[in-house]
Amino acid sequence: MINKLGLCALVLCSAIWAKSTGPDPALAGVPGEDNCTVCHGTTVNSGGGKLTVSLVNASAWTPGQQVQLRITLADPTARRWGFEITARSSSNPNTTAGVFALADATTTRRVTGFAGTEYISHNSAGSRTGTADSSTWDVLWTPPADVSFGAVTFYAAGNAANNNGVEDPDDKVYTTSLTVNPAGASNTTSYALSQLAFGGGWYTAVYLTNANSAAATATLNYFGADGKPLNITNLGTSTTLNLAPKATAIVEAADLGPLTQGWIEVKLPDGVTGYGVFRQTVQGRPQEAVVPLANTVSTQGTFIFDDTNYLTAAAFTNVGSGDANVTITARDTEGVTLGTNTFTMSTKTRSAVVLQLLGGLETMKGKRGTIEFSSSAAITILGLRFNGEAFTSIPAVQK
Ligand code: HEC
Repeated sequence: MINKLGLCALVLCSAIWAKSTGPDPALAGVPGEDNCTVCHGTTVNSGGGKLTVSLVNASAWTPGQQVQLRITLADPTARRWGFEITARSSSNPNTTAGVFALADATTTRRVTGFAGTEYISHNSAGSRTGTADSSTWDVLWTPPADVSFGAVTFYAAGNAANNNGVEDPDDKVYTTSLTVNPAGASNTTSYALSQLAFGGGWYTAVYLTNANSAAATATLNYFGADGKPLNITNLGTSTTLNLAPKATAIVEAADLGPLTQGWIEVKLPDGVTGYGVFRQTVQGRPQEAVVPLANTVSTQGTFIFDDTNYLTAAAFTNVGSGDANVTITARDTEGVTLGTNTFTMSTKTRSAVVLQLLGGLETMKGKRGTIEFSSSAAITILGLRFNGEAFTSIPAVQK
């Protein structure tokens, strides 16, 4: 107290005293904005507690229907509590979503930031001085007027403070976010096709169909083996497909120019399914194989190989957001390890290799068994089996 009064005399008092009434705007941890660690605590989410944001009796937002949000901050060491929350468009965190109202004006307050941004935080009474274990605040939120606004993300920061009345490194700061879809909207899932080859005798097609009774939009993004957007001669770097109810469409990477390889990121709303096909034409004789849509969340994949008279290759893509440390393990028919190969691949890059040519995997030669990929980042895998000119794909079981 003496310190604060001393500072007051130095005319800093309004800035300091202002804090006890609640934090400034733009501290809720929105990408590009700050959080409470500007003054409190150290690294976010490094304490033994947790910040949670949830909807009360709702799982989606509906235009015109106010939603109640609950912010719960728990930490076994804390004795004073604070939070700040804001709502943004999930696709653009700079765009404010909906309008907040106070559910309890005795514990929370509303502050505005730049460009109409809006924040709700605790106020002095809402910091619940001396309370142990956890603190909960409720907030009301009116959604956008139209579902076309799309998904909304609530960003929140919480300070589980030690109740010593100052901002210090012992306070524990937590951040979290909650994404809420408009009611009736279908979710979009990302898939990957790890085999895209065109030119030099190769061609790849993707078939998609919409089983919904409403129109649906699918997006295909093309990437080169180097992970960079790939400009396909007849398609560009991406394709957007608008599929009428029950409609089917095909996208073809034509056999133009020299052989180019890469992968396709396929974003599909619920109810839209499909597969890829790649083709090699040698002396007028076409050979084709199917490429299944692989999920983009697995870090493991397994398939059966037969290198007695055939050659097994694998096409795999790092679909994660960072470097992938990958280990390939070959096992024989008894499950005994034949060998391993370990490497690192950058995000969004794709490789295709004949497995028995890799160091450590030469022992596959003449054998049958399984190949297991295990990666530190999400990876998609497709096995390819060659018998002279003939080839087929081997789907991997991904986990
Ligand atoms: C610009 C610096 C600054 C930022 C950023 C800041 N605070 Fe504070 N905070 C203070 C100061 C100064 C105090 C002590 C004076 C007071 O309570 O008025 C304080 C005190 C507190 C306390 C009481 C701490 C205790 O141990 O008694 C809580 C709770 C709190 N702030 C919550 C928050 C939350 C939540 C955020 C982020 C949303 C935040 N603060 C961001 C400066 C800041």
